Amino acid sequence: MGYPHPAHPRETPVISRYFGDAEARTLAGWQKRGGYEVLRQALATDPVDVQNVVKDSGLRGRGGAGFPTGVKWSFMKPDGKTHYLTINGDESEPGTFKDREIMRWTPHQLVEGAAIAAHAIYAETAYIYIRGEYTEPIHRVREAVKEAYAAGILGANAMGSGKRVDVHVHKGAGAYICGEETALMNSLEGRRGNPRIKPPFPAVAGLFAQPTTINNVETVSAAQHVLRHGADWYKSLSSPANPKSTGTKLFSVCGNVAKPGNYEVGMGFPMKEFLWDLCGGPPAGRRFKAIIPGGSSVPILTPEECEGAVMDYEGIQAAGSLLGSGGVICFDDSQDMVRQIARLARFYAHESCAQCSQCREGTAWTTRILERIRDGQGTMQDLDTLLEIADNMSGKTICVLSDSCATPVVSGLKKFRHEFEAKIPKNRSSVMIPGFSPAAA
Ligand SMILES: Cc1cc2nc3c(=O)[nH]c(=O)nc-3n(C[C@H](O)[C@H](O)[C@H](O)COP(=O)(O)O)c2cc1C
Ligand code: SF4
Repeated sequence: MGYPHPAHPRETPVISRYFGDAEARTLAGWQKRGGYEVLRQALATDPVDVQNVVKDSGLRGRGGAGFPTGVKWSFMKPDGKTHYLTINGDESEPGTFKDREIMRWTPHQLVEGAAIAAHAIYAETAYIYIRGEYTEPIHRVREAVKEAYAAGILGANAMGSGKRVDVHVHKGAGAYICGEETALMNSLEGRRGNPRIKPPFPAVAGLFAQPTTINNVETVSAAQHVLRHGADWYKSLSSPANPKSTGTKLFSVCGNVAKPGNYEVGMGFPMKEFLWDLCGGPPAGRRFKAIIPGGSSVPILTPEECEGAVMDYEGIQAAGSLLGSGGVICFDDSQDMVRQIARLARFYAHESCAQCSQCREGTAWTTRILERIRDGQGTMQDLDTLLEIADNMSGKTICVLSDSCATPVVSGLKKFRHEFEAKIPKNRSSVMIPGFSPAAA
């Protein structure tokens, strides 16, 4: 399978520059494009200086939360303890498929980024944890690691630096929750992938109870470009209007849109132009009805809310949602929003690790109510119950999977309540629905 579209003239391809270029997948091809030179320089640089360049660049984590990467790296001190780096390639958030393309097309970009990040946090070992279903990306990254060891780029004396850098590739078993950083660490340790209560935070006691940094695939890939070209160059790629969101971002676009795919643009790109000029707008003859701009766990936006928004952390927040993982899911006017929201809720109910009762019970109950509304068996009271359950699911659990289920339900009800109400038979006020037992819900 090839890469579906060449870069649009308005894109800023930095991380995605070699997507579709099969030669860049090999070690020789990557080195021909300047690959591993940044690693060579980084290994000869004090880790604190590497941390500071990344801090100055304003790069923020691309895994969802947007925490400043240089600051995260600076939590790791030369304390004589064994440090670990874990790279998060679990990417199971519905609508998000950008890390997949980094790993498929530029596996050496990831391996180089991993080795640089390991050096920056005083770690000798990095684990790349990849979603189990990502057969081709796993194969590509494993091949790249093998080539890098054979060339002496990784190993006991990485690039002749006298420093050890080991990279291991770990195949996940296909659980969304294993993308949550502490669940990922449990999974790497061979345990069930359940999130851990924080504190302690990974920087204090993470993988194998040692200080650990966890970064997304896109984050470490971006960091190497920061080191190659400098913090000011990185900042110049984004809109000067917002110095809090710098550089470029890869957005995955799917759903009812003319040209789905991955697009890399400077932070601050106008959302309307993104959706229409780059992604071609809705399918012919259709109108957009709703957009989820940051993967399935963030609030749903209406086209009107997207109108004046810009695509960066603060811009999407000002529009009423979150940038999240950068997965843009589009719905056109042919879509039934109740059905779509019920599908999302079912996903979260299936993926809940079931440790917290609010999440275990809440995701299941929410799904059943949504599905009975979808099937024309709901009551007006159900709408209030959904909001009440969502309130109990938010901010009260070990991780935010519970909130992630509640968020699209609450925003969907707020913005598309008429669609929910239209499915509720008039005068149905009882919850005594044939075949439905509240006790089993
Ligand atoms: C349920 C859940 C799933 C997550 N899945 C991913 C994922 O697949 N990839 C990822 O990078 N981060 C994921 N995250 C965020 C990670 O916990 C973590 O914040 C991130 O990997 C940190 O990297 P960054 O600082 O480079 O963004 C998930 C979080 C939650 C709560
Ligand atoms: S919120 Fe859900 S997924 Fe997260 S730890 Fe609790 S039960 Fe598990």
